[in-house]
Formats: sequence, structure tokens, C-alpha cells
Amino acid sequence: MLPRRTDFPKGFLFGTATSAYQIEGHGTGGAGPTHWDSFAATPGNVAGAADGARSCDHYHRFADDLDLVAGAGFDIYRFSTSWARVMPDGGTLNPQGLDFYDRLVDAMLARGLRPALTLYHWELPAALADRGGWANRDTAERFADFAAQIARRLGDRVWSWATINEPWCVSWLSHFEGHHAPGLRDIRATARAMHHVELAHGRALAALRAEGMDNCGVVLNFEPTLPATDSPAAHAATDLFDAVMNRFFLGAMTRGEYPDTVLAGLGPHMPPGWAADMPAIAAPLDWLGVNYYTIKRIDAAPGPWPGWRIAPPQGATTDMGWEIAPDALTGLLDRIAAQTGDLPLYVTENGMAAPDTVQNGKVQDDDRIAYIAAHLRAARAAIDRGVPLRGYVVWSLMDNFEWAFGYGKHFGLVHVDFDTQRRTPKASWHALAQMLTGGRA
Ligand code: FCB
Repeated sequence: MLPRRTDFPKGFLFGTATSAYQIEGHGTGGAGPTHWDSFAATPGNVAGAADGARSCDHYHRFADDLDLVAGAGFDIYRFSTSWARVMPDGGTLNPQGLDFYDRLVDAMLARGLRPALTLYHWELPAALADRGGWANRDTAERFADFAAQIARRLGDRVWSWATINEPWCVSWLSHFEGHHAPGLRDIRATARAMHHVELAHGRALAALRAEGMDNCGVVLNFEPTLPATDSPAAHAATDLFDAVMNRFFLGAMTRGEYPDTVLAGLGPHMPPGWAADMPAIAAPLDWLGVNYYTIKRIDAAPGPWPGWRIAPPQGATTDMGWEIAPDALTGLLDRIAAQTGDLPLYVTENGMAAPDTVQNGKVQDDDRIAYIAAHLRAARAAIDRGVPLRGYVVWSLMDNFEWAFGYGKHFGLVHVDFDTQRRTPKASWHALAQMLTGGRA
């Protein structure tokens, strides 16, 4: 059972999220190629050899999709702007691309939704990837130009700004583990990407400020870590995993510091002069977004740094194989707030993949309702402990291109038939609509 809207403090905001490449249909509107297109075109990278060329065709269907956001009673719609749609070669403006986001934001406002804009949710223009992508420092400077252009066009109407979605995924997952574009497994590229993504955040934040924007933040992903065994080696490996995933970005963006244990491995590969960038990276934020899905159990592993391995989950998992651990969200928010003090926090993503099917025109996703309910209760418990949590955003509005998993993993509150583009609100959408609109009445 979902809680009631009135169980949350007055002014607490609810939202749902998407991202550009995952829903728009990238093959239309003059968008330029991205590193996700080339990653997807490389055999073996994406399940079903899928890509984002058509996806949910949101580019043409956004009005109906926003009706679904508003219809559920959400306050916030978190979306992203595709750099390659706005600047197909990474620098030259595509007026069609800017016009699209202009229409999109107006359509949100017309429905009473607060536009929560994320500048970068992963589809780097291929032209910049050709020049080294995130391993190239210049990408951070180009990103600031993009941020300024978006602010100039949409800044009079956007409610909140996030620079980058999940820098850990943009850098570590994509350059060290090779799971996401550009699919590298290279420690030197990783060190550079990690730092340059941080710098891009700092530069974009400065560009937004220079354009007079307020309510600026960033969206980080966190996975609380537990040692898989009691051995000292497992504890050390867990601490290092935690440092890379949960402390590297937060520490830099709030205090201007990288963890020593991470520098012990990445230090020799960091770009020259990186330390001079730390003040720019640590510029003040107006809010912090926390993406939370799961926890990780970590064990030590033989071999070179970082010397860890991910141990199997315990108990129930989602269709991604991710352990369901709602209570850990309370502790996570508490821990973050201990470092960020009064800074407003938002859960900017939370949700689950489930093997949903349409039966008699309905999708009975009770597991998703239970997941969201449990995480809402955990978020509420954090508020009770004094955490300045101001909102909660469900991932995702609708089934979409789930990156390397293609169209096989379904996170939506709304089911999408990718052949017909028919949208079917699932039971979770109806339950949230009941919760959010019922509480207002
Ligand atoms: C997050 C991403 C989002 C989606 C969810 C399931 O890491 O930000 O695009 O893939 O996971």
C-alpha cells in the first residue's frame, strides 16, 4: 500500500523521470550521432542489437506523454536535453533541437508541471567522442557552452537544473567496466573521464550561474555497500568500492576532495594539474539529487587494483537482478545529509524493472507498487530523522531504451508497446494517481 500524500510534509514534491535518448527517438529532428549510437551499432554491446533511433517516439508524442505525467498528479517532470539534438556536432546549434525543448517545456507548464531539466544524461555527440570524449578535457569546456545555450533559450521557464546524471556511470561504468558507451576498459581513460566529468559539472554550473539560473544541482547515484564476508580483505574492498561509487563525486562536489584510497589507484593516470580544478568542482549547489535502486555486497578479489568483486545479492531482486533493499535508503539519506547539512536533497530516481505483461488491457505490477511504497516509507523515515528531503521522483514514466539491456527491461509506470507505440498505464500509475490526487482533494 502506498502512503498518503498527506503523510509527507507540506510542499514535499513528487515526480517522475525520463531521459532524452531513452525515449525521444533519436533518429528524427536533425539530431547528430552520439556515442550511444556507435556503441549500439557494435555487435554484442546492447541486448537485441537495439538502439534509441525510434524508442518511444516521444519526440512526436510528447503531449500525450505529458498528459500521463500530469494525470497521475505529479508535481515535477524530470527530463533531459540531448546535447547531440541541440548541437549535432557538439558545437553548432540545430534550431529544430532547441525548438523541440522549447515546446516540451511549454507543454509541461501548460499542465502545471515543474520542468526539472538534466543537461546530460549520457548521449555524448559522436563528434566529441571522436576527439576523445570524456577523456579529453576540452569536452568539459564544450559542455559549458551547451549549458549556456540551453539556459539562454529555456532559462525563463525551467524550475530546476541538474548538470550531469550519474557521473559514476558516465566515467567508471563506461570507461573502466565497459558496460556503457564508449565501452572502454582502460584505467587511464577512466581516471581522466572521472575528473573531466567533475570538471564539466563545475564549468556548467558556472555557466548556468552566469546566465542567472538558480535552483542548480547535480544527480549522483549511490549504492550502499556491505562486506560479503567478515574478512579484513572484504572490509577493505568494500571501503574502496564505497569510495569510488559513493564518495568520489560527492566529496569533490561538496568539499573539493578525492578519497585517498581512490587516488592510490587512479593517481598515476590522472590528468596533469587536476588539483587546481577542485575549487571549480566544489562550487556551491542549491540541491543534490540522489538516485537509489539497490545495495552492493562486496568481496576481495585477487588481481590488480581495485581488487574487489561483487558478491551475489541476498533475498528478493528485481528483473535487473538488483537486491531490493528499501531500508538502506533511510541510512543513505542520513549519511549524505551528515555531509551536506542543510542542502535540500531529492530522490531523483527510484524504481524497479519487472517483467510486466499486458493482460486484458491491464498491467498488474503489484511488485512495483510494493517497491515504491517501501521506498517512500524509507524516505519518510529519513525526514523524521531530520534529513532535508524535499521530493521523490520515480524512474520511469514509461518503458524505454534501458541502455545495454535494450528494450528488455521495463521500468515504466506506463507500458509501451514498441511496435504500435500504444501506452498502457500500469496498476502502479493508477495507484500513484490515487495517492497523489486523492491527497489534494
Ligand atoms: C539509472 C539511469 C537511468 C536508468 C535507470 C534504471 O542509472 O540514470 O537512465 O537507466 O538507472
